[in-house]
Amino acid sequence: MKAIVYQKFGNTEVLQIAEQVKPIITSDQVLIRIKAFSINPMDWKIRRGDMKLMSGSKFPKNTGADFAGIIENTGDSVGHLKVGDEVFGVVKNLMKEGVSAEYVAVPASLVWKKPDKISFAQAASLPVVGTAAVTAFEKMGNITSQTKILINGATGGFGMILLQLLKQRGAQITAVTSPKGIEYAKKWGASTVIDYTKEDVLSQKITYDIVVDLSGKMGYKAAKEIMKTRSIFINPTPEPVEIPLAVLGNIFRSKKHIVLLSNPATAYTEVLLDEVSKGLDIGINAKFPFSQYKEAYQYAEKGGYVGKVVIEINNPVIK
Ligand SMILES: NC(=O)c1ccc[n+]([C@@H]2O[C@H](COP(=O)([O-])OP(=O)(O)OC[C@H]3O[C@@H](n4cnc5c(N)ncnc54)[C@H](OP(=O)(O)O)[C@@H]3O)[C@@H](O)[C@H]2O)c1
Repeated sequence: MKAIVYQKFGNTEVLQIAEQVKPIITSDQVLIRIKAFSINPMDWKIRRGDMKLMSGSKFPKNTGADFAGIIENTGDSVGHLKVGDEVFGVVKNLMKEGVSAEYVAVPASLVWKKPDKISFAQAASLPVVGTAAVTAFEKMGNITSQTKILINGATGGFGMILLQLLKQRGAQITAVTSPKGIEYAKKWGASTVIDYTKEDVLSQKITYDIVVDLSGKMGYKAAKEIMKTRSIFINPTPEPVEIPLAVLGNIFRSKKHIVLLSNPATAYTEVLLDEVSKGLDIGINAKFPFSQYKEAYQYAEKGGYVGKVVIEINNPVIK
């Protein structure tokens, strides 16, 4: 089978197509013929070697963590899924495994039936950013119509889901985005939108109960300036050293630095599937065919779009 792999850390030029052996499943796994997989910033952070401590340096590496496809085979102990089911899911080890291939073998516990109302591309876009959004939402605690929340970088994959979860709680949401995201941020739930190419949210002297930085560019030190005395900063892009420092520092300060590390699991997916049934909008900005994998990653890494970027595979059944 064909797979997108890389043999060393680097930019998109290290990506290549290689022939790999079709995976053999264990009793708790399912074999999936991939129809689509989504691109996440984590993919290029790992590929560039920024996360070596967690990803390890063993090559070749595949890329991509969340996917949708069709079940080809099931292990002996798998009861709830059968051959032919349309499903979506995620790899077990986000740092070390990848789904950029015609087939993947994954634990059945990380695979869920795809609702008919969403496409393979939309389903493939849900596990990583959806889990992160549900986790961030849980960390916010009690939210009322008086809670003022700032989401910086609000119209990427993560922000798109988080905005919609928060909208239902009636919080006062300020979204920071680029001009392309303004209409989407309003549609998904923001009451105020700031265009970061024109205004600097840090110099506005407005304070918030919760600040979430999805751009990876704000940092706790800067965020403190726009936090109320008892408020939280949610940071899903910490430097490794920040993780213990945040926990220790929080013992002494009232402006809390909350590091977010999320891991997809059925409990989160159940929340997301419930949201899908209620009409969650999963915005796909661009879909690339498997053969245009380099263009897909170049496009995604450049930024400047709203929602998710997905690679689709129209692969025949391989016997
Ligand atoms: N820790 C975890 O468990 C976890 C899980 C999922 C994701 N993450 C991380 O969370 C972050 C967001 O994920 P994502 O999938 O939503 O990524 P994304 O789709 O790339 O979204 C990031 C957003 O930030 C915006 N942005 C860039 N520069 C900005 C600036 N100066 N000010 C305000 N906004 C700016 C981008 O807008 P433009 O492109 O228009 O510039 C983009 O919409 C990523 O770093 C990702 O790695 C962490």
